[in-house]
Amino acid sequence: MTISAPRACVIGWPVRHSRSPLIHGFWLRELGLAGSYVHAEVEPENFASFINALAENGFVGANITVPHKEAAFLLCDRHAPMAEALGAANTLWFEGGRLCGDNTDVGGFLGNLDEAAPGWDSRVECAVVLGAGGAARAVVHALLLRGARQCVIINRTPTRAHELRSRLGLGETGAVVVGGWGDLPQHLAKADVIVNTTSLGMPGEPALAVDLSAAPASALVTDIVYVPLETPLLAAARARGLRTVDGLGMLLHQAVPGFERWFGARPRVTPDLRALLIADLDGHAAASGERRHG
Ligand code: ATR
Repeated sequence: MTISAPRACVIGWPVRHSRSPLIHGFWLRELGLAGSYVHAEVEPENFASFINALAENGFVGANITVPHKEAAFLLCDRHAPMAEALGAANTLWFEGGRLCGDNTDVGGFLGNLDEAAPGWDSRVECAVVLGAGGAARAVVHALLLRGARQCVIINRTPTRAHELRSRLGLGETGAVVVGGWGDLPQHLAKADVIVNTTSLGMPGEPALAVDLSAAPASALVTDIVYVPLETPLLAAARARGLRTVDGLGMLLHQAVPGFERWFGARPRVTPDLRALLIADLDGHAAASGERRHG
C-alpha cells in the first residue's frame, strides 16, 4: 500500500493571489517534509460540496479565507474553542473522519504583536479598533483575551459595530464601546493600542487619515493591512514617535497551527520567511494579491 504525501489547500473566492502556498511551501522545504499546499478557488454556491468532498479529493485539511469562514464553521462536526467563540473557522482538518475547525486569526494577531512588541499587553486599559468586519471580530476577541479593560470599536457603519459587540456576547458591558469616526479623537487620547482592521490604506483604497496627535506617547499602533508594509497609518505613527507593528506577521503566525496539524511538525516564523514574503510583495504588491489578512 502506498501512503501519499499530505495535501492541503487554501479555499477562497477569489484566492489566486493568496500567499499561503508560498508560506507552506517554504516550511515544507525548510523542514524537508513531503507534502503540498495549493490554491482552491471555490465559488460560494459550490463551497459546501467542495468541503464535503475534501477528504475524498485527497486533502488532509484546508485554510479558509474570504468569503467562506462562516460557512466553513457551519459545516464542521467539531469546533476548537476559538472557532466557537468567533463563529468562523479558517483552519480545517480531520479527526477520525470528522471535520474539525479552528480559528487561528486570534493567535496570528497576538503572535505578531508578541514577537514584534514583547510586553505590549502588560497594561492595556483601552484599545481602539478601527473597523467592524470579520477581521475586527478576531482582533477585538484577541485584545479582550489579553486583558484589555476596554475595547472601542470605531466603524463607518455603526450598526455593524453594534452587531460585532453582540456577536461576541458582550452586550452593554462597558468592556466594548462602539462609535463612529467622529468619536475617534476622544478615544485616541486614552488609547494604549490602536489597530486598523479596515481596508483603508491599501492600494486603490483611500488612505486612512487619522490624526494621532492626541494619542499617548506610549501607544502601540498596528495595522492588519500588509500591502503596503508601512501603511499611511503606520507612517503617521512612526513620524509621531509611536511604536508600530506591521500586518505581515499576522499572516505568517496564523498559518502555523494548520501546518502543524496537516504535516506533523511545528514550523517557525523566521526572518527568512518574512524576507521571502516581502520579496514577493515587492514583486506584485501594487498590481495584485491579498493586501490584508481578512
Ligand atoms: P473583513 O471581513 O475582511 O474584515 P469587511 O467585512 O469587508 O472585511 O470589513 C471591512 C471594514 O473596512 C469595515 O469595517 C468597513 O466599514 P463598513 O462596515 O462601514 O463597511 C471598513 N471600510 C471599508 N471601506 C471603508 C471606507 N471607505 N471608509 C471607512 N471604512 C471603510
